[in-house]
Amino acid sequence: MTQQTDGLSRRDFLKGAVATAATIGMGSIGVFTHAQADMIGPNDTINAALIGVGSEGGMLLSKTIKIPNVKVVACCDIQPKHLQRGLDIAKGARGYADYREMLDDKSIQAVIIATPIGLHESMTVDSLRAGKHVLCEKMMAYSTEGAIHMARVARQTGRKLQIGHQRRYNPRYRHAHKMIQDGLLGEITHVRSQWNRNASWRRPVAQDSTEELTNWRLYKKSSQGLMAELGSHQIDVVNWMIGQVPSAVVGIGGLDYWKDGRDIFDNVQMVFEYPNGVKYTFQSLTTNQFDGATEQIMGTKGTMILSEGPCTFYREPKTDEEIWESMAKKEATDGKGGITLDASKSPRLQKEAAEGSSIADEIANLKKDAYTLELEDFFQTLRDGHEPMCSARVGLETCLAAIKANEAMENRAWTDIPASLYKI
Ligand SMILES: NC(=O)c1ccc[n+]([C@@H]2O[C@H](COP(=O)([O-])OP(=O)(O)OC[C@H]3O[C@@H](n4cnc5c(N)ncnc54)[C@H](O)[C@@H]3O)[C@@H](O)[C@H]2O)c1
Repeated sequence: MTQQTDGLSRRDFLKGAVATAATIGMGSIGVFTHAQADMIGPNDTINAALIGVGSEGGMLLSKTIKIPNVKVVACCDIQPKHLQRGLDIAKGARGYADYREMLDDKSIQAVIIATPIGLHESMTVDSLRAGKHVLCEKMMAYSTEGAIHMARVARQTGRKLQIGHQRRYNPRYRHAHKMIQDGLLGEITHVRSQWNRNASWRRPVAQDSTEELTNWRLYKKSSQGLMAELGSHQIDVVNWMIGQVPSAVVGIGGLDYWKDGRDIFDNVQMVFEYPNGVKYTFQSLTTNQFDGATEQIMGTKGTMILSEGPCTFYREPKTDEEIWESMAKKEATDGKGGITLDASKSPRLQKEAAEGSSIADEIANLKKDAYTLELEDFFQTLRDGHEPMCSARVGLETCLAAIKANEAMENRAWTDIPASLYKI
């Protein structure tokens, strides 16, 4: 690391990071919407329930039980072994095979939905109509109409609806978003992202399960494929970072390698166009994991590479060095001179924390995982009424773009996404 240079600018840089992290923990942003009468007091216990104790639901459940003043009182799954896993995690919870029966329980205030995408709409709408607030896993819905329906019912019922694109809650991504808003990259003109893996995505079917229940992702009738399961996370990041939603998409995909009975594409290559002229290319492969999963935001002054691991900044050679660069961590990055954006490692944050300033809480947030922050924000929305960071609107915008991308590939055609489609 090089010598530190300018204290004031470093401070501003770090304050940005801290402020973004702090908003996550305190749930202090957004529009206040639901009626005062429905508010839950700051220290009241919230009774929560979960539908779908599969791989994602099990993970969410084990994080939910650790959130202060939240009690998981019920779990639901149609597969008995999965339900039992839920009951083993959430000790004392009641178990249900039928989610509608569970929704009859008036004591349940919040429902987390982690079932296959084709069930999100009906389960969310039924939960909202039963008076529950909902955190529904991504992608929001199997169809655009389904996503719009969910958002409208949330509005009609005055209940909160949050969608599970957890990068919105990731302190690194929030830090990067703040820096982009502050102009670090200049004018953003292009974005690239890829989510590449070398694996079939096929899960072994247990004796007491079925192909339909286990490998729902592999079939068009129950899945929107790579665009929904992987691409939607990255579309969401891009929409957020550039503050726009796509107006058109073109692309090509194929089922070219994993010819094992599935019918979804095993590789996709897309270009999205945004109203301000930004072009965003997205690739997802299942036969080569080179470059893994990252988003590269490219502007006239630099490039930011975002990931759930390290995030890195590359300054364009013609751009002057940012004053804060001297305190940032520089790591070997293929000789390209990248700077790792890692505010939690900053000497100044660590020093202030050691001195007992309130920054300690904010550092603690920087160390939390995005799922925990997502869940904390969900329960906080029920207490103070703020609009969730990953709201129904955000979920819908992402969902629409991913579904239009699939349409473009199916029809092998340039596909417009008119602004009117985004209306709730
Ligand atoms: N946010 C993320 O990063 C992330 C990661 C993985 C999965 N997900 C999302 O989470 C959701 C679930 O994915 P998964 O990998 O856990 O799937 P999964 O197949 O492992 O789990 C789904 C669970 O839902 C249960 N289920 C199916 N039909 C049901 C019904 N009618 N009533 C009650 N339970 C029912 C199944 O038995 C299973 O236990 C999907 O929407 C997926 O996209 C999100």
